[in-house]
Amino acid sequence: MTFAPEVDQRLRADAAQIVARYPRERSALLPLLHLVQSEEGYVSPDGIELCADVLDLTTAEVSGVATFYTQYKRHPNGEYTVGVCTNTLCAIMGGDQIFDDLAEHLGVGHDETTEDGAITLERVECNAACDFAPVVMVNWEFFDNQTPRSARQLVDDIQAGRAVVPTRGASSVCTFKQMSRVLAGFDDGRGDEGVGAAGATLVGLELAHQRGWSVDGLYDGDGGRGGSSRAPVEQIAEEHVSDPDAPSAHDAAEPGQGGRTPARGKRGSARKDS
Ligand code: FES
Repeated sequence: MTFAPEVDQRLRADAAQIVARYPRERSALLPLLHLVQSEEGYVSPDGIELCADVLDLTTAEVSGVATFYTQYKRHPNGEYTVGVCTNTLCAIMGGDQIFDDLAEHLGVGHDETTEDGAITLERVECNAACDFAPVVMVNWEFFDNQTPRSARQLVDDIQAGRAVVPTRGASSVCTFKQMSRVLAGFDDGRGDEGVGAAGATLVGLELAHQRGWSVDGLYDGDGGRGGSSRAPVEQIAEEHVSDPDAPSAHDAAEPGQGGRTPARGKRGSARKDS
């Protein structure tokens, strides 16, 4: 074990909090891998050993999991992961072109990092944001409706140290290490910042409202099935409709910003896991 003693002690204290959340210790492996990744910016051999020691697993078992999921990096990652969605819809809407353009602009390929250590470029799979295609993610924050030009501006801003503002969700982008700590389950206090569902996502719901369509009995008062109250998403739609600053389905992307700045006050910090 080569973590410095104070780092090892701190990581083990955090690991104990994570493990305590699960009825079986080994179930804590995924967040533990994010925890060690938050320390070094990737899952190092030392990180593998710490996870194995804490959970009484073999290093082979831990490595098998760490190499299965693409969110765990096995070599030092850039401060910001710029993920271009090249899944079907984003690809045909320009995602492939954006990736090729950024690869040439940055001089790196998939899962490679710029010389200044600022950006790791990735092809990523569908981020469930197809209605805002083509989508670029920066440390899992959304930059919607991108173009090659806006994506170039985005990475230029990151490399120059200028703040970039996600289209939805968070009002700023944290570092890869900070994001990894959130994924490990340590709340950064920004979970309700910014809007999540907005614009194109809600067009169908707004049409249903206009035309009086409803599904009676589908939801109960707690958002579950079986009652007669309205679905939580309908409340979101009303908030969106009444909020003049919320992004619209027709907002065009501005260079580097991916569209209009979202309304403040709520931010979704829940990140995707593989
Ligand atoms: S295909 Fe890109 S977000 Fe779904």
